[in-house]
Amino acid sequence: MTTEAAIRVQGIQKSFKDLHVLRGVDFDVAAGTIFALLGSNGAGKTTLVRILSTLAKADAGTATVHGLDVAANPGEVREAISLTGQFAAVDEVLTGRENLMLIARLRHLKNPGAIADELLDRFSLTEAGGRKAATYSGGMRRRLDIAMSLIGNPPIIFLDEPTTGLDPQARIEVWQTVKKLADAGTTVLLTTQYLDEAEQLADRIAILHKGTIIQNGTLSELKQLLPAATVEYVEKQPTLEEVFLTLVGDTGETDTDDADRADSAAKAGKESR
Ligand SMILES: Nc1ncnc2c1ncn2[C@@H]1O[C@H](COP(=O)(O)OP(=O)(O)O)[C@@H](O)[C@H]1O
Ligand SMILES: [Mg+2]
Repeated sequence: MTTEAAIRVQGIQKSFKDLHVLRGVDFDVAAGTIFALLGSNGAGKTTLVRILSTLAKADAGTATVHGLDVAANPGEVREAISLTGQFAAVDEVLTGRENLMLIARLRHLKNPGAIADELLDRFSLTEAGGRKAATYSGGMRRRLDIAMSLIGNPPIIFLDEPTTGLDPQARIEVWQTVKKLADAGTTVLLTTQYLDEAEQLADRIAILHKGTIIQNGTLSELKQLLPAATVEYVEKQPTLEEVFLTLVGDTGETDTDDADRADSAAKAGKESR
């Protein structure tokens, strides 16, 4: 790699008592790319993300984030990153805009209102900005969560299972958000247990299994690991996901907006009667 890696992980080990979760993990993430860490439940993805985001200490090995050693410079690392966990950190009692302003204030930034409005616009939440987050669909909530983590413009963002628990449409909304982030130059390390998520998003995919990275490459590199399948005369059946998205529409619209539309359609019907 010619350019300095945005994230460099070398020989990271971590155990919980007798449980050796990470047994020497190595990889680099190039700046401005999306890197997917793929692994089953319990593989150690969150443990690694916690180490890289300075929330936990490795037993051995080194990691640098934005050129800074996570063990030696945790404070500076935290200024260069944001972390969005599996469980949305949104305050449901506040509106979307208030949630964003709260974080901007906590980060001592000027013009929290302007920062909130810019992010609402960027994440297609302007209309919903004045509503309590409790009324948001799963996809809107996760988008707000990611928007909150971007306040202060960190160059590197960690997304720990960003779409676990979301329905297919909401997943696509989050994917679009993540792609836009990377297009704007942010380095994204995401963890996932979904193969299609890695396939859709990642420039590189690393598979964490039994404590080490057993494969690391681009999607086409990984696909070359298996021989091409010989196909006989069989019709290609659509996948369930394709059927579902065709039936319900893949427009990025939210449940709540649909409900609003149904509501106003019902009202319009009443008025014309
Ligand atoms: N603080 C902890 N104490 C003890 N065991 C833990 C702790 N954190 C994680 N583990 C264990 O380490 C393994 C990896 O967990 P985790 O990193 O959360 O996996 P993943 O995010 O890939 O699902 C699991 O077996 C989990 O139970
Ligand atoms: Mg996890």
